[in-house]
Amino acid sequence: MSTDPNAPGTVVDRLLPRRLCTPTPASAFAPANIALSKYWGKRDTQLNLPLNASLSVSLGSWGSTTHVASSPSGRDEVEFNGDAIDLKDPSAQRILHHCNLFRRTQNIPLRIVTSNSIPTAAGLASSASGFAALTLALIRAFRLELPCESASMIARLGSGSATRSLWHGFVRWDHGTRADGTDCHGNQMAVNWPEFRIAVIPVDTRPKTQSSRDGMNHTVRSSPLFAAWPALASVDCKQIEEAVRDRNLTALGTLAEANALAMHATMIAARPALTYLTSETWKVLETLRHARHRDLSAYATMDAGPNVKLIFERDSENDVKSLFPDAKVIAPFEDQPKI
Ligand code: DP6
Repeated sequence: MSTDPNAPGTVVDRLLPRRLCTPTPASAFAPANIALSKYWGKRDTQLNLPLNASLSVSLGSWGSTTHVASSPSGRDEVEFNGDAIDLKDPSAQRILHHCNLFRRTQNIPLRIVTSNSIPTAAGLASSASGFAALTLALIRAFRLELPCESASMIARLGSGSATRSLWHGFVRWDHGTRADGTDCHGNQMAVNWPEFRIAVIPVDTRPKTQSSRDGMNHTVRSSPLFAAWPALASVDCKQIEEAVRDRNLTALGTLAEANALAMHATMIAARPALTYLTSETWKVLETLRHARHRDLSAYATMDAGPNVKLIFERDSENDVKSLFPDAKVIAPFEDQPKI
């Protein structure tokens, strides 16, 4: 299904005013996030409404900072990590399309400056933190009073996974049931887990050849295994939520790793097959499995790319680092810049 985000009754229509005030310069930070229970498949491709709930952990200080102001040149300008981006570039187009949800037909030229604190060498995409930070910066620039849940629904229109990037810690994104998406936003879980760690194992840091959006749509359209995914993902998400509440790493890790591999199985079965995982990814998984036999308590998850993310607790950090010397370790509950 596909619904115009500006259609009457949708999130944009309900939450954003018809006319905006003159913008004042504003900035916002939003963390990137890694799904432990994956979002894969949409019930509405324009509103990015998911078929199943998902649950993520945010990456602390790894994220995007976006600054929004009136454009002094009188034309829209987009800058990313210090470089001006051609407005015809698809990434600039997506950013301006998001700004247009706010501007509607008003002519308000904007200068959008984004910088990412995610190390390029980690090979992590950042559309989640990017759209969350852009949404918050626009809300602040136009002095709109909106709660985080509303910002989460607007961020979702830029990229589904951005729905979960409005908070630190663990965030659950319910699939909602309304066709207009007005019940489909993130919810921060009241769980503090200071010992929780994430390691990113860079396998291939080149830009990916197929976006998660295209890969997801292709899988939904053509994979005979996809029919089983939404029900499986819903059960996984509930059990993963329980494991997070219990702070049970073994249960959480086992479920999260199985959930990620099931998602990749739906892609491998797509026609033609889609495989983001490379032989290097499988080598990391093999090394991890052997280490688990020697009692390492660490578990893997992979998204639409070959890089591996591990979850574990503080007391396993040295073992993870000696097993994977390139690992970049994040302590998501210890370093939380203001969102
Ligand atoms: C594999 O959020 O990038 O990372 O909604 O089309 O922008 P769009 O897709 P996107 O998909 C993320 C897919 C995933 C799993 C996840 O983050 O839950």
